[in-house]
Amino acid sequence: MRKTILSLFKRIFKRLRSTSKYKEHIKKLYEEKDYLEAYSEHTNLRVERSPHKAIGGRWEMMGNLQFDFLVKNGLKPQHIMLDIGCGTLRGGRHFIRYLNTGNYSGIDISHKAIEYGKQLVQEESLLDKHPRLLVSKNKDLNFAEFDGEIFDYLLAQSVFTHLKPEHIEECFQHIGHIMKLDSVFFFTFNKAFKFKQTSLKGFRYPFSFFESLADRYGFRLEDYSNEYKHHPTGQHVVKMIKK
Ligand SMILES: C[S@@+](CC[C@H](N)C(=O)[O-])C[C@H]1O[C@@H](n2cnc3c(N)ncnc32)[C@H](O)[C@@H]1O
Repeated sequence: MRKTILSLFKRIFKRLRSTSKYKEHIKKLYEEKDYLEAYSEHTNLRVERSPHKAIGGRWEMMGNLQFDFLVKNGLKPQHIMLDIGCGTLRGGRHFIRYLNTGNYSGIDISHKAIEYGKQLVQEESLLDKHPRLLVSKNKDLNFAEFDGEIFDYLLAQSVFTHLKPEHIEECFQHIGHIMKLDSVFFFTFNKAFKFKQTSLKGFRYPFSFFESLADRYGFRLEDYSNEYKHHPTGQHVVKMIKK
């Protein structure tokens, strides 16, 4: 009996020590590296631990939520779609199944997420849909990878929630090159009265931040958050189109 209790304590102690070592390692990552470098390494580690939880968890619910939302808002199988920050395909697997062959592209800065996504495509018998899954090598949002291409639907689900103002501005500055007049870009964000960083990789923005960027780069925004009430942590969703 004493032996069992002792070994239980030892195991708990070992786990606590490895958890605090892991936390320390993550903290150091963000202190020592460029933000996106650190964030992608962090995501890689999270994907290794649990590919479904790594990108925010609620795998089934959040996958269905984003899919149902885009379909309700006009996504058709013939549309060409870009999933920006597609992660491990929580939503992507639904879009791939629904869209016509070759119409889904996903890009992410985490090579482990893309690796897992490719495995999932195979496991879910979606290879014949020929999704294009890309690792963003430069970790920027200037969309040079898609030079000369136009997408009908673009999505950034739970991506701006983890990005700094300069990254979001880079996205607004360049995304117009891969959109036509009736393309739609939906993105989600966490709302606050003032910009604030809430954790190592958590950011909140006022709607006015996006409005001023939209003005600067020639877009119109519409708040669709009323249609996204079921988001479990209350993320807002915005539709962006060219002016
Ligand atoms: C919280 S996850 C959401 C993933 C996916 N959209 C979903 O809803 O399941 C955010 C993802 O965005 C990716 N990401 C962040 N910044 C990015 C960037 N600049 N370019 C491409 N991917 C990015 C992260 O690596 C991560 O996989």
